[in-house]
Amino acid sequence: MTGGAGFIGTAVSTALADSFERVVAVDNLHPQIHPDARRPADLDPRVELVVGDVVEPTVWDGLLSDVHPDVVIHLAAETGTGQSLSESTRHASVNVVGTTQMLDAFTRHDARPQRIVLSSSRAVYGEGAWRGADGAVFYPEQRTRQTLEDGAWDVPDASPVAMESRVVQPAPVSVYGATKLAQEQILGVWARSFGVEAVVLRLQNVYGPGQSLFNPYTGIMSLFCRMAAAGRSIPLYEDGEVRRDFVLIDDVARAIHLGATTATAPTSPIDIGSGEFQTIATAADLIAKRYGAPAPHVTSQFREGDVRHAWADVTAAQDVLGWTPQYDLRAGVERLADWINAQALPPLD
Ligand SMILES: NC(=O)c1ccc[n+]([C@@H]2O[C@H](COP(=O)([O-])OP(=O)(O)OC[C@H]3O[C@@H](n4cnc5c(N)ncnc54)[C@H](O)[C@@H]3O)[C@@H](O)[C@H]2O)c1
Repeated sequence: MTGGAGFIGTAVSTALADSFERVVAVDNLHPQIHPDARRPADLDPRVELVVGDVVEPTVWDGLLSDVHPDVVIHLAAETGTGQSLSESTRHASVNVVGTTQMLDAFTRHDARPQRIVLSSSRAVYGEGAWRGADGAVFYPEQRTRQTLEDGAWDVPDASPVAMESRVVQPAPVSVYGATKLAQEQILGVWARSFGVEAVVLRLQNVYGPGQSLFNPYTGIMSLFCRMAAAGRSIPLYEDGEVRRDFVLIDDVARAIHLGATTATAPTSPIDIGSGEFQTIATAADLIAKRYGAPAPHVTSQFREGDVRHAWADVTAAQDVLGWTPQYDLRAGVERLADWINAQALPPLD
């Protein structure tokens, strides 16, 4: 597992350790996520942690001289959508070159695994597909700075289509999304050439216990909880009507584990989400009420690279992996809030 000390890796670590003889996590304990550079307490003790950067060939050489993995779960990535615009080299380096370094190392050591599971992202879809008033599906242009400054948030006279890889084509609108699509494509080409199974899971917005509370670029649900816990009114970007699909980490960990262990590897990307959307206003309102905080307020601010609406159609996950999400937003927020309460955290700035 790469990036195995992160949010998703830690959450799936016990299930993996139960299913596989040996589990090794390669992770550079990135300071943006791990400010103390320590092994996460929740990473299953049976998982061997190798601290190293996936971009470095020597890290792979050291690792692959010791272990030839049957299954690889590739999670290591730079994940900040907004940050990816100003730090595109870092994103491209880790996400794209980190992937190619890994694949080259497998070849160099004659250690190609049977299967590689990639945690891709709904960011590959960008604004996704929309249906016009005449019923025709089209792909809107990336929203420009000007349209956002004008508050023209939505695509006029059209409604968005749920994200499903067999229906909606990828069209990223962030550097992060472009690097995740590059990962998928590079892995796909390589895996088909060498007869390796490539399992691509496109995750929607994952949230829940264990997500870094220090990374300012990810984790909107944790941030909302912390704001509400501090008695603040949660600020809502755009008009608050942005739609997202929040899927609880427990459900995602189960999907990743199934991706690694299912007998027949799916051949097209599988969308993983709660299967329903929330507006940011609805999610924030639920959290504000949970904490007895003042009502959220609309700011009309926006963030470049953010898409207007995103949610997954999860029927393929059910058909192919036998996976369905188990938690709705209310249950997930309770789990998250309980976990945050148990952390010793500095007050929000
Ligand atoms: N969390 C989400 O909402 C979400 C949504 C869609 C896709 N994903 C994808 O899932 C994967 C894991 O995400 P996460 O939420 O667990 O993120 P995370 O930031 O918690 O974990 C990523 C881990 O990768 C490690 N890492 C970063 N750069 C590395 C490098 N160069 N070498 C080795 N390790 C490195 C970090 O130290 C961290 O432990 C990523 O590929 C991400 O793109 C996550």
